[in-house]
Amino acid sequence: EVVKASNGIDQVVLQNGRGASARVSLHGGQVLSWKTRRGEELLFTSSKAIFKPPVAVRGGIPICFPQFGSHGTLEQHGFARNKIWIIDDNPPLLPPYDSNGKAYVDLLLKPTENDLKFWPHNFEFRLRVSLNEDGHLTLTSRIRNVDGKPFSFSIAFHTYFSISDISEVRIEGLETLHYLDNLLQKECFTDQGNTLTFESEVDRIYVNSPDVVAVFDHENKRTFFIKKQGLPDVVVWNPWDKKAKALVDFGDDEYKQMLCVDGAAIEKPITLRPGEEWTGRLEIFVIPST
Ligand code: BG6
Repeated sequence: EVVKASNGIDQVVLQNGRGASARVSLHGGQVLSWKTRRGEELLFTSSKAIFKPPVAVRGGIPICFPQFGSHGTLEQHGFARNKIWIIDDNPPLLPPYDSNGKAYVDLLLKPTENDLKFWPHNFEFRLRVSLNEDGHLTLTSRIRNVDGKPFSFSIAFHTYFSISDISEVRIEGLETLHYLDNLLQKECFTDQGNTLTFESEVDRIYVNSPDVVAVFDHENKRTFFIKKQGLPDVVVWNPWDKKAKALVDFGDDEYKQMLCVDGAAIEKPITLRPGEEWTGRLEIFVIPST
């Protein structure tokens, strides 16, 4: 179902027939809501979020493409999250596109003449967002080089999970991995054996991470699982109090209720030759805990 949001931009509502739902905006191809069958919202969106393109929306799952962060000549996190995507009614049917009885939508982003002035590489970015009968949300991306020369890109699904309290959550699956620390501007560190907990600002890219990472939220009695293919890195971000105050579209105390854990490909950019296509897949789901 396509509905018009109050800012005039279309949003696609996905329903799995068992009460779970998701909402995807054509602004950025961004998932803005993902709810359990009991109607609980699983993604964080700031109460101060600005819904005016080209400003990116603070929350949900913004897509950082073709650049992550400020590592390049483009605007922070690239332009994909600022653009208006279109619904692709007739996407080329290639694996791993499965749609059996699932609620899904196919979106497409292509550069305009003007975009090509800033990033002179012709591409087609296809995104399928699907919600299965168990309420799992899957983002399958296919990026194709439709240019005459090779290009490279980075990508991240900047997932804002809604959590009870940042001081109470922990991440499992990233221990003992190397990471790039954006705060210290240093290349590489190794965490010791423990799970990752939070007591100050965190802004890291874990490289070569496992295919599944879990975020335990004991107070909310649930665990998020992030399962990925083709996305070797995991970004972990929480702005904490000082950075939160500096962000205009973020409430001062909201850092307590969110944690970004992204499936990403950043450290080793992906290179596509003319005609080549890359596929990446992110599946997120939640399991109740006691
Ligand atoms: C993180 C970056 O992933 O995204 C941070 O590593 C950045 O440095 C954060 O502050 C949010 O970015 P933005 O552009 O959405 O404010």
